[in-house]
Amino acid sequence: MRIVLVGPPASGKGTQAKILVERLGVPQISTGDMLRAARAAGTELGKQASEYMAAGKLVPDQVVIGLVRERLQLADAQKGFILDGFPRTVPQADALDALLASLGQKIDHVVQVDVPRSLLVERATLRRTDVRTGQIYHLKYNPPPPDAVLEHRDDDRGDKVNTRLDQYEAMTAALLPHYQAKGLLRRVDGTGSPQEVTSRLVAAIGG
Ligand code: AP5
Repeated sequence: MRIVLVGPPASGKGTQAKILVERLGVPQISTGDMLRAARAAGTELGKQASEYMAAGKLVPDQVVIGLVRERLQLADAQKGFILDGFPRTVPQADALDALLASLGQKIDHVVQVDVPRSLLVERATLRRTDVRTGQIYHLKYNPPPPDAVLEHRDDDRGDKVNTRLDQYEAMTAALLPHYQAKGLLRRVDGTGSPQEVTSRLVAAIGG
């Protein structure tokens, strides 16, 4: 199954993608995780992306499209994937359509995760990630174990969260009509516990 998760920053895309990986047996492909890995490794691509990410702005389309093009051609993505955080703009969606067509593949579902802005700020600012396992925690809703090695993302601090939310509303929202017109868009309420959100998501994709 080929799924695209769309939703504002901290709406729970990564949390749900990790659960779906277990249920569906297909990989999560997160452009945010790939860009953070490139930045940590100090690659040229990571350096190019770094200033945009630190400012809470979108990385240029061509940079992320190139990353996804390479990733989707790997063996483990041939039977399906969960795209988390890509596409975010209409040019990215057009590039994805062309790439999948060239591979003889197509998207089955685009799931939009809806969460009110007031909750998103709290979810982002109290998020912590275990750098060893990639597990996502929340200081209030899903506290980490005492031995976790926690990272507080720089773009989860201060004004950056609001900048990212503004960027989402300005740029990513234009994607929704694109997928609506193709009959692929499903909307899921992203409030409530992660388990409740998973149940709605699985129902939306006919699982
Ligand atoms: P990216 O890493 O993709 O960030 P994002 O879209 O802003 O999404 P987040 O990772 O913030 O949140 P999420 O929805 O995965 O939520 P999570 O599950 O962690 O991108 C980072 C940056 O990279 C971008 O700003 C941009 O610069 C660049 N970039 C990436 N992709 C790009 C692209 N395609 N084009 C251009 N630039 C790109 O949950 C959040 C918190 O809430 C956690 O603490 C979690 O524990 C908690 N939580 C989750 N679900 C629940 C629940 N149901 N109830 C209570 N708490 C919950």
